[in-house]
Parts: sequence; C-alpha cells; structure tokens
Amino acid sequence: MRRIGVLASGSGSILDAILAADLPVVAVVVDRDCRAVEIAGASGVPVELVERKAVKDRVEFTHQVVDALQRHDVELVAMAGFMTILEKPIFDAFPDRVLNTHPSLLPSFRGAHAVEDALAAGVKVTGCTIHLAVPDVDAGPILAQEAVTIRAGDTADELHERIKDVERRLYPDTIKGLIDADA
Ligand code: GAR
Repeated sequence: MRRIGVLASGSGSILDAILAADLPVVAVVVDRDCRAVEIAGASGVPVELVERKAVKDRVEFTHQVVDALQRHDVELVAMAGFMTILEKPIFDAFPDRVLNTHPSLLPSFRGAHAVEDALAAGVKVTGCTIHLAVPDVDAGPILAQEAVTIRAGDTADELHERIKDVERRLYPDTIKGLIDADA
C-alpha cells in the first residue's frame, strides 16, 4: 500500500506537509481550481481536476474521482481539506483505504464549519482528528487525535491555523504509520 492519492480543495497546506514528509504521493485530485494545484505542480506530482461545478450528481462525481485515482494506480486515498462529500463508490473502490483529517475532536463538531462551531459552543479545547472515512460524513474509526486549547478572543482563522499546525504533523505521521504497518 504505497501509492497515495491526495484529495484537496483549498490552500493545500496539509498536502504540502504530506509531500514534505516524503510520502509516496502519486496523484492529487482537486474539485476546483485552488492553491493545492500549484503545490502539487511544484513537487512534480500529477494533478487531476474533477470539477465539482461541472457534475451535478454526487455519485457520478464520485465515480469520476475514483476513475482519476485509478488512472494513477492509487492504493491509499488521503482527503486533505476536500470539501465535496463523496458517495459509496469511493468506499467500494478503496475499502478501508480512505483517510480524512478533520479540524475538531470527533465526534464533536462534524461538518464543514467545525472550527466556527467549536467557538460558538464556547468549548475551551478542540483539536483535530485523523480517521478512516466511511459513507457517513466525519465518522469512521479514529486513528489519531490531538487537542488544541482555545484562547480568549481567538478568531476562527487564528484557531484554525493552530489546528492546522497540528494536522500538518499528525496526518503525515499517521499515514506513515499505516504504510509501515502494511509493509
Ligand atoms: C484542514 O483543517 C482540514 O482538516 C479541513 O480543511 C483544512 C484544509 O487545510 N477539512 C475539512 O474541513 C473537511 N471537512 P489546507 O487547505 O490548508 O490544506
């Protein structure tokens, strides 16, 4: 299990950390034009754009993502800030081989606004979770978690940046652990 495909939608800083950790990334799939494309390009990793806006149906979109990953013989999928919900076909194609990082301590604060929701709830500690992805969103067996303390006056951006600092270490380490265990 050595060929990793990374799915990204945003600034790509988690992708950057995975690449910096020398993990064997063979393809990056994005659902929109985003900075992750430049980051992959700078490392010479092929990028596939499966444009979310162009495909209305999410199951069909998922099939196209799977096709893109399979074109590169991907064995392990790492979602790194991928903001489209994927459907059953990806879990059929990569059983127990789809990972995700989420900016909260699951099962608290699932969904696309986890950092804002933690601030709004007034909790004093949040964090990040690396987990096996399943068809249910932000669920699935937890592989690693780390807490991040919320500071008085934190903005969502400030807090998210501190959470991402942890993700940029914890996610590559967790992926490496899985690959080593499978070797
Ligand atoms: C990360 O915090 C990741 O956990 C989050 O997006 C950020 C991506 O950062 N993912 C989700 O919220 C998925 N629901 P990046 O674009 O800088 O790599």
